This record gives sequence, C-alpha cells and structure tokens, in this order.
Amino acid sequence: MSDVLNQNFIDGIWQDGASGATFKNINPALNSDVIGSFPESGVEDVDDAVRAARKAFKTWGTMPAPARGDYLRKIGDLMTARKSELAFQMTREMGKPFFETKGDVQEAIDTAYYAASETRRLFGHTVPSEMPNKFNMSLRRPIGVCGVISAWNFPVAVPTWKMFPAIACGNTVVFKPSEDAPHSGALLVKIFEDAGLPAGVVNLVQGGGNTGRALVEHPDVNAVSFTGSTETGSKIGEACGRMHKRFSLEMGGKNPAIVLADADLDLVVEGLLWGAFGTTGQRCTATSRLIVHESVHDDLVNRLATKASALKVGYGNIDSTEMGPVINKKGLEKIEYYIKVGLEEGAKVLIGGKRPTGPDVEGGTFFEPTIFTDVTQNMRIAKEEIFGPVLSVIKISSYEEAVQVANNIEYGLSSAIYTQDVATAFRAMHDIEAGITYINGPTIGAEAHMPFGGVKGTGNGHREGGWEVFDFYTETKTIYVDYSGKLQKAQIDNVED
Ligand code: UN1
Repeated sequence: MSDVLNQNFIDGIWQDGASGATFKNINPALNSDVIGSFPESGVEDVDDAVRAARKAFKTWGTMPAPARGDYLRKIGDLMTARKSELAFQMTREMGKPFFETKGDVQEAIDTAYYAASETRRLFGHTVPSEMPNKFNMSLRRPIGVCGVISAWNFPVAVPTWKMFPAIACGNTVVFKPSEDAPHSGALLVKIFEDAGLPAGVVNLVQGGGNTGRALVEHPDVNAVSFTGSTETGSKIGEACGRMHKRFSLEMGGKNPAIVLADADLDLVVEGLLWGAFGTTGQRCTATSRLIVHESVHDDLVNRLATKASALKVGYGNIDSTEMGPVINKKGLEKIEYYIKVGLEEGAKVLIGGKRPTGPDVEGGTFFEPTIFTDVTQNMRIAKEEIFGPVLSVIKISSYEEAVQVANNIEYGLSSAIYTQDVATAFRAMHDIEAGITYINGPTIGAEAHMPFGGVKGTGNGHREGGWEVFDFYTETKTIYVDYSGKLQKAQIDNVED
C-alpha cells in the first residue's frame, strides 16, 4: 500500500480494484498536487463488498444494540484524536478551509456519540389489544445491507450521518464516497478499522457513477442512502423503485434568506456572509437567494458586498484563508455558465462574477464571492442550483411577497427569515416550504441530533440526522402474543351484525 490509502476495503482487507483501472484525485486549490489514484471499482468489487457485508450482517445484526454502541463510541474517540490530521487531508482534497473541515469531523464525532446513545433507545411500541389476555407490540429490526453514496462537500459528516445510524441499528454497509473525496472516505474507514469494528460491517468501494450504479442495482443491497445531485438522485430513485428497495435521497437546494424591514442588519450581514460564502457556497444548505425588503435593500447589499469582497480566498490549509476553491473545473465552468445566464437575463453583477487572480489562487479552481442584484423571481439564477459562491438578490415589498418568492422553486431544503417580530416568525415557520427554517440565523449549520432533509424536489420524504433517521434504517416487526390459551379471532373476524 502507498502512503496514501488508495485501495478498497472489503471484509477487513485493503485491496486494489479487480480491473486495475483507477482515477486520479487532485487538490482543487493547487491542481499540480496529486493526492493519489484510486480504484475505479466495477461490478466484481461491489459484489465482493456486498457479500462481505451480508456475511457480517449475520453476527452484527444480532448483537445487542448497546454493544454496537460501544464500537461507535470508540470510533468517536478515535475521530477526536485524529481530528486535525484528518481535517488537513480533507481540506487538501476538497478545498474548504481547515476550520471548516475540523467542524465537519466534529459533526461526525457528535453523530457517533449520538448514535451510540440511541442504541439504548431503539424504541418500539406496546399497544392495547382488542382481546383479553393478548399483548400487542412493535419492534425494530435491521434491514440488512445498506449502500451509502455520499457527496464531497462534507466528506466525513455526510457519510457518517448515514453509516452511524445504519450500523447502530444492526445493518452493515457498503460505502462509496464521492470520486472527489475518496481519500477522506478511506481515512474515515481506516478509523473504523483501527477502532476494532468487525470485518465486513463497513466496506469501502471507490469509484464514480458506474460503481454507484453497480451498488444501487445489486440485488442483495436492501437500502440505499444518497446525497448528491438531483440528476443522479432521480436515477437512483428509479432503480430503487423498480427493485423495491428502500431509499433516501438528499439532493439540491436553492435556499432563501428572507430579510424583513425590522431585521437586525448587523446580524443579517454576518449570517449571509457565512450562509452564502461559507464552504464556497457549496453546501446543499447554502444561502443562494436573498429576498430582502426594499426599505433595507440598498443598505444591506452594500454592507454585504464590502465584507464579501474582502473575504480572503485561497488554499484552505493556510491559516488566513476564509474561502477555499470550487471543487473542480466542471464546477467552476458551471458557475461561469450561470454568470453568463444571469447577465443575459438582465441581472447585474455587483461584486465578483469571475475567477480571482494573484499568487494565493494560482493553479487552483477559484471563484470570487459573487452577488447578483436586480434579480427577479423567475430568472434561472433565482431558481436553479449553482453550487458556488453566488448570491442572487431579489427585492420584495411585503412579507406575503417574500414567502411567495421563497416558495417559487422546485426545491425545499433550508430557509431563513430575519425579523424581530415574533408573530411573523411563527407565521414563517408554517408558510415557508422547506424541511428546515432558521429564525434569525443563516440557512446552514444543522445540528447532528436534529432531523435534516427537504421537501419538494430536494428529497423523497426521509430525514437524516436526529431521531428520525432511525426509522429509515429499521423495519418494523408487529407482534401479537395471545396468552388466553384459546383461538381469539380479531374483532374484524368476529362481528355478528
Ligand atoms: C450538505 O450540504 O449536504 O447544515 C450538508 C449544514 C451542515 C450540513 C450540510 N451541517 O450546513
């Protein structure tokens, strides 16, 4: 093995892909820095991994849940010990600044301890029976082998949102990280190995779309959890639907921050700066639309523009960096395409709109923090996900108009509203069509123990994180215990007239 963990991990063994084909992974801040070549796994590798997971399921699935929790705690401890070295490699691989990748690992640590605690709380129900001397209850059972396909923007937090509850419930996993974050995925799996997680409980297969397809379509994979693009998610949904698999999709967003006339503008500026330009705008939850009351529009936009254009853009492993690169050339070209689209539609670029220049950004895929003004709600830049540091500003003149604009999209992940009026805040909690609404805070920053997910085109109704994800990773078994010693027909079979 080279010093980079660049192999698959199947049944407790690091190994090359069967075909020998590989793909290269580079540092987005410095493209000449090649991180390594990783296996482009095929059907055979996926089949081996699924077989290992199936075998491990026999013992892992029947182990007392709190004993599984002990492994999760050990994993959490080891992630804590390796936080900085892991974060350094994550930043090198996917670009966001070191303080952000440390936060990414922290989210995974919180999820590990939270999932460990839930292993003592995998509640079922006890319910009265219609009959005397009969006992009714429901229990949770694991589903089996889960395919986990995750995104590069949270290379540790997002896959662990999926894997930790999955294994807490007794499932086993085949994990395919994004092809833009394979090294972080491998370092994470190495932590599982070093924490003593039994072989086969989590298996790693590296690769791109073909690997993902082989995993989704494998007949012995029972459930699939995916975070990524709407395009890929829709294909996964079709395949899982056809094969009667359970699936959870977390896809695009076009998250609005509504700012009303009575908002605390100092707070709003800080919130927008973080929500729109944190992670270079490459979060599913990023603020990509500012819907602002006309009375505060100019003041807010000017203050925000001053601060946003002063953000220090560069390599995230340099201390002073506030905003890292865009993930790759394709991502950069997509942003540039939308700049053209926005201009053609009649919007104005107030700041940014181009690649920066200078020694700090040479050789990487960087883009300047960008604000579009004069945006109207039906423009493409107001409706389509750009996934970059681009904020579209839409002026409104009332709360009702703000909500109508906020809801005029196909997505519904996160949202925010800034107002000092408690009644308006409560109205907004109900009126905004989104899985998450922040009052007086940015659209990003979900906490590990709260349900996370979107409505409308963002997902398919499931939630990650929090207590709800445990519903996704378990099957309900309904049990009737009749201790009357005689045949008792259910009420429906016992009706006389
Ligand atoms: C994502 O972008 O897919 O709420 C996840 C947040 C983070 C997670 C984002 N905790 O912004």
